[in-house]
Amino acid sequence: MIDFHNHILPNVDDGPKTIEESISMLKYASIKGITEVVQTVHFQHPKMDSKNVDYKFLRNEVEKLERQLFKHNIKIKIHLTAEVFYLPNLTKLVNNKLTTLSNKFILVEFSSSIFPRNYEEEFYKIQNMNFTPIIAHPERYRFVQNDLSIINDWVSKDFIIQLDAGSLIGHFGKKVQDISWRIVDKYGFHLLGSDAHNNRKRNFCLPEAYNMIDKKYNSDIVLELKNNASLILKGDFPLLVKNKHNNSLYDIIKSKFRY
Ligand SMILES: [Fe+2]
Repeated sequence: MIDFHNHILPNVDDGPKTIEESISMLKYASIKGITEVVQTVHFQHPKMDSKNVDYKFLRNEVEKLERQLFKHNIKIKIHLTAEVFYLPNLTKLVNNKLTTLSNKFILVEFSSSIFPRNYEEEFYKIQNMNFTPIIAHPERYRFVQNDLSIINDWVSKDFIIQLDAGSLIGHFGKKVQDISWRIVDKYGFHLLGSDAHNNRKRNFCLPEAYNMIDKKYNSDIVLELKNNASLILKGDFPLLVKNKHNNSLYDIIKSKFRY
């Protein structure tokens, strides 16, 4: 199982404070059945201020952590990329090894309260350079909560939608939870990630969210989501996943005439 979005390197962003905490998080992830994590360090987020986001430095931090995992017999593969805070400079980031994934995708987060102007123009520009934006946790943005139809619009433009597992579980409150389930039910999305930050409340909660989806809908949806995470790592475009039991009006009418 691949966890697509998380912060596990000690002291590089607002993730774990110590390597012991990183190991504790990854041990927990491993027990839950996670075998690969895509570490998504915050990039150009205001809270990063003077933090070091040099690719070589972070690659070295990953290797240090991998050596510790080996010592503790924790078998998890770490992929390194960034969660890029949206600024109209994405075209300048397509050559940065840290801010791209599979030489094809850029994970982008917005401010939760400010809808940026002209972001679509910037997204089109990177699409023309053969990169696809992955929009991180849209369910947590006020402008999405106010008008969910933007998800349809984004999907039609081939932007990829990534929800946080914690949103579905309720870690961000009832409103975000309701919004995220509406997205699963009616609009569809492509990826689910823990967005783990620590070994307390924001840990690797992906398996719990998959279990909830499995119980509420069916295991096919979970399999599609798991497969999408693999596709992304191979550089392939993921499929839109949504509740297939949410029948269209045509399906409902047709079922009334079944013998
Ligand atoms: Fe994140």
